[in-house]
Amino acid sequence: MVKVAPSVLSANFAELKKDLDSIRDAGADWIHYDVMDGHFVPNISFGYSILNDVSQVSDLYLDVHLMISHPRQYVKEFINAHASLITFHIEAMENEEETRELIQMIRQHHVDVGMSIKPQTPVSEIEKYLKDVDLVLVMSVEPGFGGQSFQTGAVDKIQELSKLKEKYDFLVEVDGGINEQTGLLCKEAGVDILVAGSYIFNAENRKKAIDSLK
Ligand code: DX5
Ligand code: ZN
Repeated sequence: MVKVAPSVLSANFAELKKDLDSIRDAGADWIHYDVMDGHFVPNISFGYSILNDVSQVSDLYLDVHLMISHPRQYVKEFINAHASLITFHIEAMENEEETRELIQMIRQHHVDVGMSIKPQTPVSEIEKYLKDVDLVLVMSVEPGFGGQSFQTGAVDKIQELSKLKEKYDFLVEVDGGINEQTGLLCKEAGVDILVAGSYIFNAENRKKAIDSLK
């Protein structure tokens, strides 16, 4: 069965603990944690110190999505703040050597490694890393903001990655504009994890929203 990872970008930060409890009780599998630096994306969200606080009050798997330039500079801080998975963007990397070093750095600390591609980046850009990562995150919106509309090009990429899963061992996650309908398209294409922010947090009944994605 597909896993659902609510994105806390859409949570109310003045009542974060309440929101974390509510999505756990509603059946969330993972917590998706969107880090934005105002440079790699035109928005600023939150960093490792809040992640550390979240880790103290939640037992769920912490899926950290770094939308930042120079991820290597900050990755240790997120490891220390108890990230379960650290996903970085291939578009933020200078070259292959730097990319391989970053994968190594995360692995050494027994944290799972993910690689993400923006809507304009083809799967072929990351193919050579697939045997070394635990997860590929397909962006179905331009990273930066919650509440945008799903871009259907993501479905083809999920399909392409699903075929590659026969050869390598990794999970496929999709992020952006996920609701019952777009989630279904992704599931049919073979996705493993659905990230959803506004669809879950704005729902009157969060359990129903999460159930409708599974
Ligand atoms: C977008 C973030 C997403 C976002 C998803 O840059 O990576 O995780 O919060 O939000 P929705 O589900 O509202 O599109
Ligand atoms: Zn995200």
